[in-house]
Amino acid sequence: MFTLGIETTCDETAASIVEDGYIIHSNVIASQINLHDVYGGVVPELACRRHIDTLIPVIKTALNEAKISLNEIDLIAAAKGPGLIGALLIGLTSAKTLALALNKPFIGVNHVEAHLFASYMSHIKEVTFPALGVVVSGGHTSLVIIKTFGDYQLIGQTTDDAVGEAFDKVAAQLHLPYPGGPQIERLAKDGNYKRYPFKAGVVKERPFDFSFSGLKTNVMYTLKGQGANKNSPLLIAEEDKKDIAASFQHTALMDIVQKALKAAKKYNCLSILVGGGVSNNLYLRELFKKENKLNISIFFPSALMSQDNAAMIAGLGSYIYSKKQKSDSLEEEAMTRIPFS
Ligand code: KG4
Ligand code: ZN
Repeated sequence: MFTLGIETTCDETAASIVEDGYIIHSNVIASQINLHDVYGGVVPELACRRHIDTLIPVIKTALNEAKISLNEIDLIAAAKGPGLIGALLIGLTSAKTLALALNKPFIGVNHVEAHLFASYMSHIKEVTFPALGVVVSGGHTSLVIIKTFGDYQLIGQTTDDAVGEAFDKVAAQLHLPYPGGPQIERLAKDGNYKRYPFKAGVVKERPFDFSFSGLKTNVMYTLKGQGANKNSPLLIAEEDKKDIAASFQHTALMDIVQKALKAAKKYNCLSILVGGGVSNNLYLRELFKKENKLNISIFFPSALMSQDNAAMIAGLGSYIYSKKQKSDSLEEEAMTRIPFS
């Protein structure tokens, strides 16, 4: 069964062809980073215009690379949220229109669930359930028990910034280009993570929740002096930047690793699936390995599958369809937020 996946939640226009829910025949991603980096973040109106221009060529490339025609597609899946409303509407409406025109079933997919499915798709024969899902992206930081895909229990989430958002904001303070996560990781490589004793937030009576906003402000005060704001000048020397990056990265990622491992133990999870843009961070992968005293199997997506991509949308769409054997309604609406349930 061949699925065409479409993903336009934020600043990537993506299309993919996936067979049987996990065999990836193409995974085309047109990134808009160059369009947005002069603004230091995503400009929604520009993102929408670029999606409109790019989506059809990206779908055609995905079909060509997979050597398949539209008529041979059995299912069309698109991200229905969470994301930027205008951006979502472009991918979702295109998918529904194609489904209607070709008389094929359609599935609307939760993009955050799909980040965890990306990890599963790459290790489909090894993952055992219940698994702990660890979502680390630009918009989400959550711990969720996956009894099986489609049956979740949310046990923790961020109460303020998502971890990727904290990376991007700290990077902006260090005058690094957008998106900041990979830049912080690069700078931190030669840094001393013990130099600045930063702390991640603790949320009262919620041991698996996260808070990164205090950490972000603490980094800013270290860079610019107590009480500074984001427009204040940097007070530290150029050579200190790498130690700040390393100390921030270590604090934020260690907090995630420790809470995830504690949660996996408490809820008797048999494996851990990590997903989302930040899961591409090699220091995070190392920390998970080093701290894993439970000897639990921990799975990460490949680099291409950890960022926003349409293969994970096609994969999860195909999985959902094979379970319910029924198309979603073409009335399905885009949603800027979708709770885990
Ligand atoms: O999952 P994603 O592509 O988009 C969302 O759904 O948000 O995640 C994007 C986020 C950005 O905040 C980006 O800075 C972060 O993932 N990111 C990283 C790395 N690569 C991407 N953060 C830390 N280290 C990385 N290597
Ligand atoms: Zn994402």
